[in-house]
Amino acid sequence: MYVCICNALRQSQIEALVREGLRCEKQIYRRLGCRPQCGTCLPVARALIREAAPQPA
Ligand code: FES
Repeated sequence: MYVCICNALRQSQIEALVREGLRCEKQIYRRLGCRPQCGTCLPVARALIREAAPQPA
């Protein structure tokens, strides 16, 4: 599923970087060679980061 239409970023790309330890949407976008444009995707990206990040024990 596409999360960010402006940058053609997929959910799987974001989840993969969260598994590598990134926890900030700006870091993730930067790693993927882009940055937020319109910002519409940011709430969804943040929710994905929360869901994909390991929960503290
Ligand atoms: S949809 Fe992600 S910046 Fe526009």
